[in-house]
Amino acid sequence: MRRSRIIGVGHYVPPKVVTNDDLSKVMDTSDAWIRERTGIEKRHFVEKGVGTADLAYEATKRLLQKSGKSLQDIDFIILATLSPDYFFPGSGVLLQQKLGINSIGALDIRAQCTGFIYGLSVADSMIRAGQYNRILLVGSEVHSTGLDLTTRGRDVAVLFGDGAGAVLIEAKETEGEEGILSTHLHADGRYAQELWVEKPGSIVPLSPEDLEEGRHFPRMNGREVFKHAVTKFISVIDEALTTNRKRKEEIDLLVVHQANLRISEAVREYLKLPPEKVYNNIQRYGNTTAASIPLALSEAVEEGKLKKGNLVCLAAFGSGFTWGSALVRW
Ligand code: UT7
Repeated sequence: MRRSRIIGVGHYVPPKVVTNDDLSKVMDTSDAWIRERTGIEKRHFVEKGVGTADLAYEATKRLLQKSGKSLQDIDFIILATLSPDYFFPGSGVLLQQKLGINSIGALDIRAQCTGFIYGLSVADSMIRAGQYNRILLVGSEVHSTGLDLTTRGRDVAVLFGDGAGAVLIEAKETEGEEGILSTHLHADGRYAQELWVEKPGSIVPLSPEDLEEGRHFPRMNGREVFKHAVTKFISVIDEALTTNRKRKEEIDLLVVHQANLRISEAVREYLKLPPEKVYNNIQRYGNTTAASIPLALSEAVEEGKLKKGNLVCLAAFGSGFTWGSALVRW
């Protein structure tokens, strides 16, 4: 059977660290509020002029160094982001140009916090179908340049950070239980406006009044998103376990999208997993949207918490609403 395996991981965050105390100097917030409600202690912000494709490039470079693979090994690029460098073209082609591997295909995925899982599912399908042998999948975000870093935007601004994570997915003929076992994708567009950036968009141009009112900044109905996040995480993880006839306790490592430590904790409690079986790094990076799962996978491998043969469950939920999961035999 032809399956796809993740054979390399890498990540990159820009050097500038922004603590909760730093944010409290520019808006009415506090370290205590942010830690208690979200678990976040700090995040990384880019310097002026650094974009999403730059972070994706750095994460890919590290992935190639660590995995011993070369640029020639990559057949296709998938880049997941909600913060592309430009409206168009997508950041996938910018990454391709930076890597200097012209002419291979490059696809952008726009599924916000679930972008990595959507990308994984697309890559898995392409590989299983025999279309490609090795796909580079990157989640990369520059949030800091698009946040309302004033008291008006504090409910959203304190949550997000910049960063990128990359994986290399390769085809393997195997009869064993190896690699990506299944992926599960969902969306419910009725909730599109619960977490969104309204303008500018093709439907309405940006007016001076819009700028004044901050309509170009992300807006979120935090409580509604939180409520849906917990239930969707649980249902989509159950779906992955049921599909593969696995029990909760068979999970070696759970890596959920890093949106809020309280959400991860609620999911962990539902699954009755011990803390060491759940990987969290939101404390150091905040919510890095499409980058959060590959960033966590890369760190978990580095720290020896994710090893060959482990059963890994990935799950994400975010704007759209979109949500998804994947079960992977590492
Ligand atoms: O990755 C995509 C998915 N995103 C998520 O899953 C995020 C889900 N939502 C959340 O994580 C939480 O809803 C938040 C962390 C965003 C907010 O926590 P909350 O416990 O739901 O707080 P809240 O929005 O109900 O606000 C409580 C209070 C409000 O004041 P009043 O009305 O009680 O006086 C807010 O104005 O906290 C205030 N507040 C803040 N105070 C200090 C909101 N943001 C801040 C802030 N600093 N940054």
